[in-house]
Amino acid sequence: MSLTLLVENNPKIVEIYQLNLKTYVGLDVLVVKGLKEASLVVDKQPFALIICRAKIGNDEVAVPLSEVMASKQINIPLFVIGHGLYPSLVHGVLPGSLDLKGVVKGAASALGVTAQSMVNMKVEDYFPIPAEHFKWINYPICPILRKSDKGEMEVIFKANEMLDRSKIQGSSLLFVDKLDRLQMVNQITAELVGRLEDKDLNPDEQIQAGVSNLEMLSKKLLSIGINEETIGLAKKGMDSFAGNVKRYPKLGNLLQRMLSNKAGYLYRHTQIVTYVALHIVRNIDWGTPEQEEKIAFISFFHDIALENDTQAKICSKEELRSAQFDPREKAVVEKHAQVAAEIVHKYPHAPMGSDQIIRQHHGMLNGVGFSDHFGANLSPMAIVFIVAEEFTRIIIAKENGPFNGRDMTRELRQTFTTSRFQKIIDLLEQITF
Ligand SMILES: [Fe+2]
Ligand SMILES: [Fe+2]
Repeated sequence: MSLTLLVENNPKIVEIYQLNLKTYVGLDVLVVKGLKEASLVVDKQPFALIICRAKIGNDEVAVPLSEVMASKQINIPLFVIGHGLYPSLVHGVLPGSLDLKGVVKGAASALGVTAQSMVNMKVEDYFPIPAEHFKWINYPICPILRKSDKGEMEVIFKANEMLDRSKIQGSSLLFVDKLDRLQMVNQITAELVGRLEDKDLNPDEQIQAGVSNLEMLSKKLLSIGINEETIGLAKKGMDSFAGNVKRYPKLGNLLQRMLSNKAGYLYRHTQIVTYVALHIVRNIDWGTPEQEEKIAFISFFHDIALENDTQAKICSKEELRSAQFDPREKAVVEKHAQVAAEIVHKYPHAPMGSDQIIRQHHGMLNGVGFSDHFGANLSPMAIVFIVAEEFTRIIIAKENGPFNGRDMTRELRQTFTTSRFQKIIDLLEQITF
């Protein structure tokens, strides 16, 4: 097994890397906290790769470490993560530490491991995972097994069953079916990412964490529903989206930030809808702090039942018909408004009427399917949301610019011709451009 030296001081990120590098690339990892410790061990073991932070706290790490390596004539690939100075001789760099695909790919390529050999990596029928990682999990996504004293595998937790930690005390290793291993590792990773605090992350990493948290919440709401855990995650998520709106008072800056980060469509869509809708409510004559809270709530939850970016891009009957979905996925897209409304209906103290607006956000009263026109009896808030969502679609379609405000609102005016909609578009025009 190739031994990798990891220089990182955040214990949760350490755990994430150890687990992912082991599972995807088969690497064993030795961890040190900083430059001093790294310089002491770098020539003591046959490392095949060094992964290090560009900077830890205020101290540059990668550049001085590369100088130590040069002085000791150590020639090992160095992979640098995070913002800071990069040495001239590196195998690769990655600005955001939570781009795990990038970390796995970078480590693999430094070691000459191909994607094919990762796929073909020999795995036992039951995949071992150190028991300590399960302290982050409340409801495992797949069955968890333990090896009995006689050496037989026994299931100790079923999928989605509350994980009672007292049952795993004394076990150092737990197991999952080899076919479940990537799912399980991804779940543990998502849980760890969800517990990282913004202050520990650079702006790139905050977006990556936001994407991961939204995906995790969506999966949990659909599997375990509303409980203390999912409510906590939802609050954190809503705070983060609304916080970004405050932090980036100009739409252009917010877009720039997400573009440079390659955040996925569904995340960007949710963030930009929140931005546009909040912007309208803040400037409309009936806007109040309660209405702002309500529109942010609706924006956050409306597409929560969707599973991926491809599904999120569908917004008409025709697009759904021509999409290459199997029947299950087609049903997910068709019913996503209804499912999200049901979830929100159970959410304690949800703003009044938000479930109804979510159910009707594609123009169908029952939340199933897509309609080309919106009924006359819509509430003012529903109209704001529908306009915000369509405007978001136009923005994302043109996200590389150039932005021509008049063209964009002209498109909106052609879609929504009634005067109630036109009034909102007038307002949007005044405040955006
Ligand atoms: Fe949407
Ligand atoms: Fe939707």
